Amino acid sequence: MFSATCVAPVNMALVKYWGKRNEELILPINDSVSMTLDANEMCAKTTISASESFKQNRMWLNGDVVPFEENARLMRCLEGVHRLALANGAHKFPLSWKVHIASYNNFPTAAGLASSAAGYACLVYTLARLYDLPLNEELTTIARQGSGSACRSLYGGFVHWQRGSASDGSDSIAVQLAPAEHWPNMHMLILVVNDARKKTGSTKGMQLGVKTSSLIQHRAKELVPQRVKDLMAAIDARDFDTFAEITMKESNQLHAICLDTYPPCVYMNDVSHAIANFVHDYNETMGALQAAYTFDAGPNACLYVLAENVPRLLAAIQLAFPNDSSQSVEYLKGIPVPPVEVKNG
Ligand code: DP6
Repeated sequence: MFSATCVAPVNMALVKYWGKRNEELILPINDSVSMTLDANEMCAKTTISASESFKQNRMWLNGDVVPFEENARLMRCLEGVHRLALANGAHKFPLSWKVHIASYNNFPTAAGLASSAAGYACLVYTLARLYDLPLNEELTTIARQGSGSACRSLYGGFVHWQRGSASDGSDSIAVQLAPAEHWPNMHMLILVVNDARKKTGSTKGMQLGVKTSSLIQHRAKELVPQRVKDLMAAIDARDFDTFAEITMKESNQLHAICLDTYPPCVYMNDVSHAIANFVHDYNETMGALQAAYTFDAGPNACLYVLAENVPRLLAAIQLAFPNDSSQSVEYLKGIPVPPVEVKNG
């Protein structure tokens, strides 16, 4: 029997992926840029074993059985890694051996906290370790076919998922813009407003958006390319002001498109809006942009803040959202690092 265990972190989009041009290959209508969190804070941990004696491919997520062979996305990831292993001639056991996969998320699943990104990145990365394959751009195209945003969790730091133009998706890859050490004092705070499963998942929400929103194509074609360029320059120059403004505008635009979808997809709740308002008021009081928010397809907030400003921001959050009120939030802190293999895990 051969086994590998890896952990892969969550990533949070700064410029959002929202909308596919090919549902099966998971090809996006626009580029996106993200920051990957500290693997110890919010991550998926996956162990995969392959054995001659296994009768079928099986999977457990947080201890519950997942129907693996019926799940097209999971199968596509396994087949993609098999194809790479064949091409590399790098397999140490027959590819016909079945696999058993056990995965755990150390944070709420499907609550708009990028659980599918960490989960599929971890699955593909662990399979790659099992078959002795290197982490490269091709591997990101396989993670992308599990869940689009997963391709960005294969790298730490700041990551760019390029939309690509090839119809087979071979150039729709994730590349690292800068490692975490490039901006070491960049921190992320996750404010958990609600950890319940969301009503409309991202896949369905963006599908409906592509069909019904009149803003979505304008955003993808006319607005995102410049935003990606500006954000890349801001990351390069460690320019927090520009970074913060683009990040907040991007989040607002994603949720504007969700409201422009018919019927509308509402992901943010009253507490989420209160947090966004709080951040704008806080920045105004400070006389500078010291915090930026972003919301994915859920009510939970992700705040970006430089390390030296974390204590003051946290104190202000605790005052504005005390734990015993209806507006209570929990905090998780993170710094950006890449997926890692856990030895003897
Ligand atoms: C709002 O990657 O979960 O988090 O490709 O259908 O699995 P599928 O969608 P998914 O969508 C993530 C959307 C987002 C924005 C982002 O991460 O860029």
